[in-house]
Amino acid sequence: MKNIDSIGHVRGESIYLDDIPLIQGTLFGAAYGSPIAHGFIRALDISEAERHPGVVRILTFRDIRGENQIGGIIPDEPLFAEQHVHFCGMPIAFAVAVSEKAAREAVGKIKAEIEPCPVVTDPREAQANGELIIPPRTFRLGDVDQAWSLCTHIVEGRADTNGQEHLYIETQGAYAIPLENGVIRVHSSTQAPTAVQRAVSKVTGLPMHALDIAVNRLGGGFGGKEDQANVWAALCALACIQVGRPVKYSLPRTDDMVMTGKRHPYSSDFKIGLDKDLKILAYEVTFYQNAGAAADLSPAVLERTLFHCTNSYFIPHVRATAYSCRTHLPPNTAFRGFGGPQGMFVIEAAIAKTAEVLGVDAAVIQKRNLLRTGDEFPYGQPAESEAHACWQKAEDLYDVVALRGEVEGFNKSNRLFKKGLSFMPVCFGISFTKTLMNQARALVHVYTDGSVSVVTGAVEMGQGVNTKMLQVAATVFSIDPGLVKVQSTSTYKIANTSPSAASATADLNGKAVQMACTGILRRLKEVAALELGVTGGMIELKEGVVWVDGAASAMDWKKLVLAAFVRRVSLSEHAHYATPGIHFDPSKGKGHPFAYHVYGTAIVVVTLDCLRGRYTIDAVKVVHDFGVSMNTLIDRGQIEGGIVQGAGWMTMEEVLYDASGRLRSNTLSTYKVPDIYSAPSAISIEALHTERDNLAIFRSKAVGEPPLMYGIGVYFALRQAIRAFNPSADLSFSAPLTPEKALMGLYDKKHVTA
Ligand code: MTE
Ligand code: HPA
Ligand code: MOS
Repeated sequence: MKNIDSIGHVRGESIYLDDIPLIQGTLFGAAYGSPIAHGFIRALDISEAERHPGVVRILTFRDIRGENQIGGIIPDEPLFAEQHVHFCGMPIAFAVAVSEKAAREAVGKIKAEIEPCPVVTDPREAQANGELIIPPRTFRLGDVDQAWSLCTHIVEGRADTNGQEHLYIETQGAYAIPLENGVIRVHSSTQAPTAVQRAVSKVTGLPMHALDIAVNRLGGGFGGKEDQANVWAALCALACIQVGRPVKYSLPRTDDMVMTGKRHPYSSDFKIGLDKDLKILAYEVTFYQNAGAAADLSPAVLERTLFHCTNSYFIPHVRATAYSCRTHLPPNTAFRGFGGPQGMFVIEAAIAKTAEVLGVDAAVIQKRNLLRTGDEFPYGQPAESEAHACWQKAEDLYDVVALRGEVEGFNKSNRLFKKGLSFMPVCFGISFTKTLMNQARALVHVYTDGSVSVVTGAVEMGQGVNTKMLQVAATVFSIDPGLVKVQSTSTYKIANTSPSAASATADLNGKAVQMACTGILRRLKEVAALELGVTGGMIELKEGVVWVDGAASAMDWKKLVLAAFVRRVSLSEHAHYATPGIHFDPSKGKGHPFAYHVYGTAIVVVTLDCLRGRYTIDAVKVVHDFGVSMNTLIDRGQIEGGIVQGAGWMTMEEVLYDASGRLRSNTLSTYKVPDIYSAPSAISIEALHTERDNLAIFRSKAVGEPPLMYGIGVYFALRQAIRAFNPSADLSFSAPLTPEKALMGLYDKKHVTA
């Protein structure tokens, strides 16, 4: 089934925050962010801004009625700076005016005198200064210290990955509208309506039942709107209460880039030990996460880095330690993969370096150490592994022997162009790592004309979750999908929602829809039995018709629904789903945190221009564990998008803060994302259909985040290509591997050392 949004998107009819018709009297906001990364406000002069034509109000922390606090996991993030500013762009004031232009001009007239303090942007430096968001976390398996003596080969090194700008097409924003009886409705571009509701409640002092947070759809979130939509919603709601008029703030792109956090940069040290057969025996890794100035979601992201630090491999002795380091950057946040990609990059770097030192093919080490069913992850959960099946299918299907032959042949016959080939296996755990977040609700109504309305806590952000919810309802009722409408979510319709995140939105909300529909269906079948005078017979609904003992009756869906109504039987149901069987004890670092894992293998081939350092991604060939995909078009779209986004992170997207903590890459001319010319020339996706029972909706496994990590393969393929030209290059593991860095690697004169 096609994505139900596709026609609206193509015609430009889909409604995003900025498309909501404005209510008369609406005012516009603009935030004044700190011009420096760290310091103390000695004086703030808003008088000239207040006098600016069209300005209605300039708000500061003094206008807050509740608490000046929006931190989610840890209360360490004021909405407005009071005295202390700790990142560039940190909101200090909020101008409200009759037009966007007037509001922005007013911001330009605000003057702050800020006494500067030392700025730290490097996580290792922050750690050395004792600046940690939470105490260090460690995951352990076996006994690493003992294991080194059993190893034939030990390799150490360092790996760095940079941040990544979410670059959702729709920037952040909110539109707060005063309703009657003290109620405020906030239209928010958020993945987490309930998180916005909590934050707005805290800042305004209003109870949650006075706040209806409504979300129609997002023009992309990618994690950037899991926690960081709260600020704009809180600013607008606060202003709305203060001036008694609707207030809207839709961020200009540069404000969005400057003021919001990104994917966490990580710097890591690794040590890996293998036996003579290239079995990995021991792995020790230390992660320095650049959290930025406040916790945001960093502790949860840090934990997922630890969960995925061994990627698809079984390693019997592991010690992984992670530091969440406080720096003077905007608080970094969720980004597709949620710390997993950062962890996986390091183990892949460790394997690549070992392969280079030993002069073997990295794929030999990778394949030999893939997880088998029953192997234990460092966090205690046993694997139900499809890692081998995906790898083997990829090798066979894509004829890796021939592919390698082509790459070697090409490299022999070309001096200034070299190809590289890499394998990238992926294993990603599905569930929020915080067990309590794995719950969802759905509300289903059947109307007397037979049409169906479904609403859940799921936020549509391009990933196609609404289409999947529609499919679930249509499948359970066995009716024409055209009879089902999925409504947009709001906190008045569905309460206490988890964010649409962790790739688990379709699973959690889909299961709730399934339960709600099943409840209604049960009652409808009872009505059908009464109407048809059937006792003890088997009643089914098939394609809109009631069947009795395998034969179609004269009663169709519409007649049945009407009969139920006439008999005063409820045609509505609200259901709650909580993932069974999951638990995790963070104090021990052990448990069964994931409902299941998603596996896959990508083979990546690149061509590098060794004169210029430029490259093309020739092919990404994937075997992906879908379970049994319920929507192959949407799922393939997720994989293609994930690969391109992952490759962008690895090769070209360069978030650049200068030493004073100012974002230099703050526009699309200085921050390069993949375009059609830099996307892979070909992406092949083959399914590994797994019949194993799992907790996915209709056994259709989650697909949102895992494919991003196939993009990591591009980095290692490029490295192969550089080494094909300059075999002795001692290349650092530092992403993104931009053309400039590739060029320096091609002509590097150092030599590889263990
Ligand atoms: N795809 C689109 N088009 N837009 C997005 O914002 N977000 C990604 C992924 N795919 C995203 C996307 C992220 S970070 C997650 S966690 C999942 O979708 C969330 O949706 P799901 O749980 O329904 O997979
Ligand atoms: N993934 C994504 N978002 C989250 C998670 C997670 O595991 N935990 C809290 N927010
Ligand atoms: Mo996705 S990073 O879990 O929003």
